[in-house]
Amino acid sequence: MSGAPEVRIAEDAQELGQEAADLFVWLGQQAVAASGRFRVVLSGGTTPKLLYAMLVSPAFSGQLEWPRVEFYFGDERCVPPDHPESNFRMADETLLRPLKIAPERIFRMRGEADDPDEAAREYETVLRTQFGVPAPGWPSFDLILLGLGEDGHTASLFPGTPALEERARLVVASRAPGGVKNRLTLTVPAMNQARVVLFLVSGIIKAAAVHAVIEDRETGRVPAKLIRPVSGRVIWILDRAAASGLTVAKQGVVSHEE
Ligand code: 6PG
Repeated sequence: MSGAPEVRIAEDAQELGQEAADLFVWLGQQAVAASGRFRVVLSGGTTPKLLYAMLVSPAFSGQLEWPRVEFYFGDERCVPPDHPESNFRMADETLLRPLKIAPERIFRMRGEADDPDEAAREYETVLRTQFGVPAPGWPSFDLILLGLGEDGHTASLFPGTPALEERARLVVASRAPGGVKNRLTLTVPAMNQARVVLFLVSGIIKAAAVHAVIEDRETGRVPAKLIRPVSGRVIWILDRAAASGLTVAKQGVVSHEE
């Protein structure tokens, strides 16, 4: 990974969303200028809604050529796309439909498939085809959005699971300890090819996990700690509550320069 993780601290969840939207649009403009497209992996959970609400607002929705953006998913629960627990449904309702993203630029994981392993292999084929990268090559996303669980999980890579140890495949089926147990997830090596990984973390309940991942060298195989892009950047945008477990040194003001 090129350098230490960059930590940006926003006053509150609202400012976290603003900062994340600023960065998303800037990265998107850079990617479109460089390659004509912006390939972004959306995160599950609820925190990304802070970002999505900003991106669909008049302040941001006109700042990016949305027809140049391709939307992928970092993980999915094994439920139908219209299920309340579906990560696709959350993104569709809060981001993709409001921005009128064409279906052909949305690449969702088929959580509804009867066989999660087959769905994982199918998604891997989609990625390899879209990127024109046959095995054993590694596609490189422009941006991967991630959240952080209280146990240090990210995407659907949970502590002590086989999915966390996968080093050959891009996408695997995984198991969650709670909620919808059957999942699909990008693997650690797939994420570590990204140009930028952006963790968005909000709330006091995440403070211990944030400290464990960013500062504590003692904690073992906390999944989010394994996300260290080979040549890309890791950026954390935290609100003050989520950052409250960090040493003072990391408590900085939100930096607007990229
Ligand atoms: C999921 C996400 C998961 C999420 C964290 C944080 O499918 O749930 O991929 O990794 O990012 O659990 O979730 P919140 O943002 O809801 O706190």
